Amino acid sequence: ETLRERSLAAVAEYITSGKAKRIVVMTGAGISTAAGIPDFRSPETGLYANLAKLNLPRPESVFDLLFFKENPKPFYVLAKDLYPGNFHPTISHVFISLLAKKGLLHQLYTQNIDCLERAAGIPPELIVEAHGSFANQRCIECKTPFPADRMREHVARAEVPRCIRGAECGGLVKPDIVFFHEALPMLFYERKDLISSADLALVMGTSLQVHPFASLPNYVPEGVPRVLFNLERVGGLGTQADDVLELGDCDTGVRKLADQLGWREELEKEWRD
Ligand code: OAD
Repeated sequence: ETLRERSLAAVAEYITSGKAKRIVVMTGAGISTAAGIPDFRSPETGLYANLAKLNLPRPESVFDLLFFKENPKPFYVLAKDLYPGNFHPTISHVFISLLAKKGLLHQLYTQNIDCLERAAGIPPELIVEAHGSFANQRCIECKTPFPADRMREHVARAEVPRCIRGAECGGLVKPDIVFFHEALPMLFYERKDLISSADLALVMGTSLQVHPFASLPNYVPEGVPRVLFNLERVGGLGTQADDVLELGDCDTGVRKLADQLGWREELEKEWRD
């Protein structure tokens, strides 16, 4: 076993002793709930539990390309709540940013589309947005990009935007978010291999229910510690000798680790600024 014991204290020791120089982080909606953005699958507060009013065949239909082509309105009703701009990064985002600042972040793989990783100052080249983001949008038919300012207006009014080529095309416009029935960005596949050279993995705020992202923790080599910061146990984490489970709110878990690392003050300062 690599860790002295299965605890955050042992993880902190492992980092401060210089054994963790290439940390990979895998995140999901749970790291953004403290910013006021709902996650998807939490029973009371998750988006999927609150989509009943939209009369969808299944909650996931809102992110389904085939459904979107028939009925794009529900996505745009939801987009209003998810659209980046009014949200502030959480302690968990800032902790990842601190890892980058200290030269310890090997790669961040996020499923989130809220752009809060960039807002927290994590260098873009260290981020894989596995499910895309709201940063750009285009026509789903002819792929012509759609201007950001006009997109913002459409989202604010929950109005479906159409291709700027007008009658010539008429296609629906959609943000570059990966819907079900769409491929993940090439970057996801290109950067996935970096996991095999990681010396520590942190998994935070994800139910690990959506593939292929959900299999990323399986690429962490044997003997490399994996730490889960999540409200619930997910994805078979905890089954390997060097898995550490920090069950609870991820900001609380991250603060605890920062305390053990002697980084707490720096973390809080970065978060406030
Ligand atoms: P989920 O909603 O499936 O899972 C969020 C996980 O975070 C759950 O296990 C929660 O218990 C946990 N959680 C919530 N709040 C937390 C907190 N404050 N601290 C710690 N844990 C917390 O979200 P994802 O796993 O991100 O796809 O979902 C994956 C994909 O499913 C999303 O990217 C989305 C959706 O379909 C697209 O948007 C394309």
